[in-house]
Amino acid sequence: MSFDYSGKTVFVAGGTSGINLGVAKAFAKAGARVSVLSRRQEKVNATVAALKALGAEANGYAADVRDYAAVEAALQAAHGQFGAFDVLVSGAAGNFPAKATGMSANAFKSVVDIDLLGTYHVLRAAHPLMKKPGGSIINISAPQAFLPMNMQMHVCSAKAGVDMVTRVGALEWGSEGLRVNSVVPGPIEGTEGMERLAPTEGARKAVIDSVPMKRYGQASEIADCCLWLGSDMAAYVTGAVIPVDGGWALGGATSLGQGFEQLAGG
Ligand code: NAP
Ligand code: COA
Repeated sequence: MSFDYSGKTVFVAGGTSGINLGVAKAFAKAGARVSVLSRRQEKVNATVAALKALGAEANGYAADVRDYAAVEAALQAAHGQFGAFDVLVSGAAGNFPAKATGMSANAFKSVVDIDLLGTYHVLRAAHPLMKKPGGSIINISAPQAFLPMNMQMHVCSAKAGVDMVTRVGALEWGSEGLRVNSVVPGPIEGTEGMERLAPTEGARKAVIDSVPMKRYGQASEIADCCLWLGSDMAAYVTGAVIPVDGGWALGGATSLGQGFEQLAGG
């Protein structure tokens, strides 16, 4: 199935690497005008160039999602250039494996501030700039949102909150014709997230064994779900938390989480 986003405006927060870059590129290939935001100017510049090379109108902003004023300024600038957002994807996140007692209070706070507060910042600032009715907001969540995992107390807490932002946003904004959903990626090939959680060949093999479909996913497979959620094909879908994970969230992710400590070493 192919989607036509010609004339549509898409904003991807955290869209300059990994899964979210794959999502930004998919919307660009489908014809959308695409804006991205992340902290590092060089990643923003490279992404804007890559999106333009795909034939899209594109722009980007260097901002930290923990800084509300900077997020708001970026979203307003993108809105000023490309108009109301048909689709907003919020996917900026941070992760590292650490025991609850092996990280400082500031380490825990850093992840919660990026993932949860950052998601709220992006949605709060984007809300007045979304197309209404018809806009679609997509939060990039993680299996940690509903599966407790060893060495992931910070991420589990933050992503559980992200899915509640999704659900409450869907409740409060449904009558405006604005939809809010979460996409929950499984382990995705070649990403920073999996490099951090499964850094060795042994760890990678254990991840694959723990996925019912016995393989890593591709960023393009997450992007396909986002293309659908952003389209009229999903016009009655809101408040949903949708795993795209080869069945990992059925339990394999949790069993793997119990072994992160050993896996990180071998
Ligand atoms: P990634 O490549 O590290 O992507 C993170 C993106 O967010 C980058 O563009 C990064 O760019 C930006 N970012 C990080 N902190 C930020 C901040 N404070 N303010 C603004 N931007 C910030 O990671 P990934 O592994 O592809 O993960 C992408 C998303 O998928 C995350 O939400 C993650 O939780 C979720 N996910 C990933 C997997 C997986 O298999 N990788 C599985 C489940 C869920 P800068 O460094 O320039 O800021
Ligand atoms: N184990 C334990 N604590 C860690 C850690 C680790 N592996 N990595 C960082 N921390 C702690 C730091 O020591 C610091 O705590 P302190 O001030 O008490 O010393 C705190 O976390 C913040 O670290 P800092 O490097 O100052 O934060 P930052 O805002 O520059 O970066 C991170 C945020 C830590 C989440 C960083 O890993 C990041 O930028 N990640 C984005 C990319 C990513 O994680 N991608 C995968 C997405 S799923």
